[in-house]
Amino acid sequence: MKSKTFLLFGLSMSAIASPAAARECTQSPGKLLELCVSVEDGEARYEVKRGGTVVIAPSRLGLAFAGEADPRYSALGNVKRSASDTSWEQPWGEQRLIRDNHSELKVTLAGDTPLSRAVGVTFRLFDDGFGFRYDYGAIAAGQAVAVAADHSQFRTVGDWEAWWYEGLGQERDEYLYKQTDARRVTLAETPLTLKGGNGLYLSFHEAALVDFPSMLLQGNGAGSFNAWLMPWPDGTLAKKTGPFTTPWRTVLVGDSPAALADSRITLNLNEPNMLPDVGKWFKPGKYVGVWWEMHLEKSTWGSGPKHGATTANVKRYIDFAAKYGFDGVLVEGWNKGWDGDWIANGDKFSFTEAYPDFDLAAIARYGKGKGVGLIGHHETGGAIENYARQLDDALKLYADHGVAAIKTGYVRHSGTIVDGEGGLQWFAGQYAVRHHLDVVKRAAKHHIVIDTHEPVKDTGLRRTWPNWVSREGARGQEFNAWGNPTNPPEHMTILPFTRMLAGPMDFTPGIFDIARGGTELTRRVQSTLATQLAEYVVVYSPIQMAADLPENYEKRLDAFQFIRDVPADWETSKTLQGVIGDYVVIARQERGKGDWYLGAITDEEARTLQQSLRFLPAGKRFEAQIYADGPGADFRTNPDALTIEKRIVTRSDTLRLALAPGGGTAIRFRLLD
Ligand code: NOJ
Ligand code: CA
Repeated sequence: MKSKTFLLFGLSMSAIASPAAARECTQSPGKLLELCVSVEDGEARYEVKRGGTVVIAPSRLGLAFAGEADPRYSALGNVKRSASDTSWEQPWGEQRLIRDNHSELKVTLAGDTPLSRAVGVTFRLFDDGFGFRYDYGAIAAGQAVAVAADHSQFRTVGDWEAWWYEGLGQERDEYLYKQTDARRVTLAETPLTLKGGNGLYLSFHEAALVDFPSMLLQGNGAGSFNAWLMPWPDGTLAKKTGPFTTPWRTVLVGDSPAALADSRITLNLNEPNMLPDVGKWFKPGKYVGVWWEMHLEKSTWGSGPKHGATTANVKRYIDFAAKYGFDGVLVEGWNKGWDGDWIANGDKFSFTEAYPDFDLAAIARYGKGKGVGLIGHHETGGAIENYARQLDDALKLYADHGVAAIKTGYVRHSGTIVDGEGGLQWFAGQYAVRHHLDVVKRAAKHHIVIDTHEPVKDTGLRRTWPNWVSREGARGQEFNAWGNPTNPPEHMTILPFTRMLAGPMDFTPGIFDIARGGTELTRRVQSTLATQLAEYVVVYSPIQMAADLPENYEKRLDAFQFIRDVPADWETSKTLQGVIGDYVVIARQERGKGDWYLGAITDEEARTLQQSLRFLPAGKRFEAQIYADGPGADFRTNPDALTIEKRIVTRSDTLRLALAPGGGTAIRFRLLD
């Protein structure tokens, strides 16, 4: 691993530059992006160009605080420049080695209020985007301050299309994306992805969201976006004590959707791994679970004659997992508190008491004997205080039984997390941001990884806390059981360029019984069987579920072979083709092995893609095991038609991927020599 950091020149000016000279610029390492920061007319602003094209027109910077006027800035100084080109290794991930090649510009803004008299701003420029963050390092230690506004602005010029959904909706981040003129964006969750009439693609997000509210973006109707922070119940945005730095505000900039998907800026702007030994206590893997059967209402989370999490039923899943080589079994509905309206009564959940027909110790022993781990489950119903009170005992219970991973859940309408400090909390305000990271840190002490559902969005914190292994945070497979409507095919071609830019997703692919006895199209999975396989490559997660019922897999062992083979940890990943909302093709190399995998998914349109195999290494032959849509396949009328073909290929070949409506292709390239 190479590691090279150097300081171009460090310039420390005790005197702040005069307003006339108040403009500083820097370029990305390959000189593709240029960023300038300036102070003018009392405002601090930054602007960004890519190859001479304006990406961000002069846009405001800075926070405002309760009890103070909006700061006006008179000068900038303390200019420091540096550059760094290093690589670091992920314990697991979509890519093992990550290159962090950036230039940095730091300035201090002189504001006219006590709290903003010396505001540090750090800009980091990469060739595929940039980030900036504020450093309120001059605030006195111990001084309590309340952030009242974030004036950070992102002003685009020209025509842009956006993929987005309305922030603050009651289902949090579980919405279908709409595609509109960017000027029609009102309040959007990030990552917010834009396509320009100039051929550029942008994605706005944040990195290292720690002890601060989550940022949404508010459109002004003219293509400009303002940071909008999820408030506390009293309207305060962030409560801080003493000096602090904010999360990074980030913008990916590329000339294709693939460039966004393959950017690693979000990870690079997070702090290094705090858990260097995490690889000793957790390995990525695949799991099955007592899960889909509840979503189909074949069994219940709550107690009674249809209770799903019984010792006998869980043993059946463990037997299945052991037989087919899965690492884990998720069990939901094992603990007391599910009876009645569990969303309204989240504060009644016990995280240590099991229902009488579930014997945790016996099941853990049984699984261990067969080499299958349990994946624990903590549904909180959004009652965070109830959960936090029980957390240490709950973690200890699972740790004592060898449980290495816990899926958490926060099902409750957004804005109504109960009994959070001071009233009803947003699901991703500072209170919730603190809570989620606290769970992850406490779980790490027990050598447990966390997979959060209804989470705060991922901002790359998995670099620092790799035991925050995966999250939901979008409309997942569960919507294909009961959603009205279920996810349309184009959803899977939008996610890779929007939600997935944030980090891994526990989407839970792999539903084989698609038609479900002729269930109406918009109330069931809207894809072909081949697409369900391709999702294992397209949607990255270090823990991947095979979500369907064991009996449905046993009916299609031919297709199931792909799920058995596909890994959940990668040496590298490449987005090969993609048009947002139309189709996507992604290839990934298995970590520690020479095999490659490819997933291609289309929307409701059939299409044939030519795919060069140039991504494969030179001088090697592979057996391509191709799982493609069969003759007549169509997500509406014939979702199960699948052909499985094997052929020998090298990197000189080009494959023709014929995708049915709602279809896909999944390929394993098995290294031969
Ligand atoms: C929502 C989660 O996303 C889902 O996977 C889980 O089964 C339910 N909550 C119940 O906890
Ligand atoms: Ca959910």
